[in-house]
Amino acid sequence: MNETETRKPDFDFENFTFGVQSTDRMLLAAYQKGEWTEYRIAPVQSISLSPLAMCFHYGQTVFEGLKAFRMTDGKINIFRMESHWKRMNRSLERMAMPPLPRTLFMDGILELLKMESDWVIDDPDYSLYIRPFVIATENKLGVDASQEYLFMVVLSPMRAYYNKPLKVKVETDYIRSARGGAGAAKNGGNYGASLLPQINAKKEGFDQIIWLDAKEKKYIEESGTMNILFILNGNTLVTPALSDSILDGITRDSLLKLASEEGFTVEERQVAIEEIVERIENGERVEAFGAGTAAVISPIETISYKGKSHATYLEPDAGMYRLKNKLSAVRKGMNPDTYGWNQLLDA
Ligand code: COI
Repeated sequence: MNETETRKPDFDFENFTFGVQSTDRMLLAAYQKGEWTEYRIAPVQSISLSPLAMCFHYGQTVFEGLKAFRMTDGKINIFRMESHWKRMNRSLERMAMPPLPRTLFMDGILELLKMESDWVIDDPDYSLYIRPFVIATENKLGVDASQEYLFMVVLSPMRAYYNKPLKVKVETDYIRSARGGAGAAKNGGNYGASLLPQINAKKEGFDQIIWLDAKEKKYIEESGTMNILFILNGNTLVTPALSDSILDGITRDSLLKLASEEGFTVEERQVAIEEIVERIENGERVEAFGAGTAAVISPIETISYKGKSHATYLEPDAGMYRLKNKLSAVRKGMNPDTYGWNQLLDA
């Protein structure tokens, strides 16, 4: 493939599975002798690593997930890029990996997006998912922090991550992360360790799980691929307070700000699963939803706890739909960008 070729004309933007198709180009930069080298953009292709490369052995892999949207005026918006860069560096720090300079992350992704701009189509349900990641590449079997790394960015077309409201199960055996662990970092191991409980829950007919705190198994932490939020009585947005065992979700943060603007009372606090279940059983109106870059706002239909299923409020007037529309309006440029979240690209 040369610089100008693209596979896009062959791609079916209506029917595809998220994450199995990349766009045509990717970004690469290496870290050697204590510094990041210049990035380069190349056709998407396999990379070659020694079997001794440390990413295969001790889990030094960190990733991010952000999205580009085609705005109503035709510009491309990369939503909350700066926040994703900062969070990536917090994850890298926790995993003893070198931080990415702002210019490498920002300029690199902007240039890649410029070259791949045809993949950001104008469609209200479509976005181009951006997956930056860093892996340890030093060849060494001793347990240590690698001295060499590779930063890469790939892009993948995306529509809804979940197509219907979710049936979730509260996980009471396994835990995701304990205080002092690496739960707030977006490192591959957090996701790898979550797979077995999720597969078990799927076999029981659930779409996702809700994690509880590791110590008392009493307080809600987050869901498998997203933070978890509740709207109580149509007016109070409640979500677990952040800690080092919960991912500092950027969609979560955006929703908290938009909810305040919309007049919701916003509470970040410990949320006991018993509280949520009791409220539902007492006939209170409880909305539950997951929030994340991929998931955006994914409504939860039932919460199963200790074998009993509890139905949440999903009617069309639910506040979560209002928040979702508000978020979408900012990202597409239909509402003012009060917080400076939109990184615009003329392309
Ligand atoms: C994201 O929302 O970007 C994530 O990292 C979740 C992943 C499961 C797609």
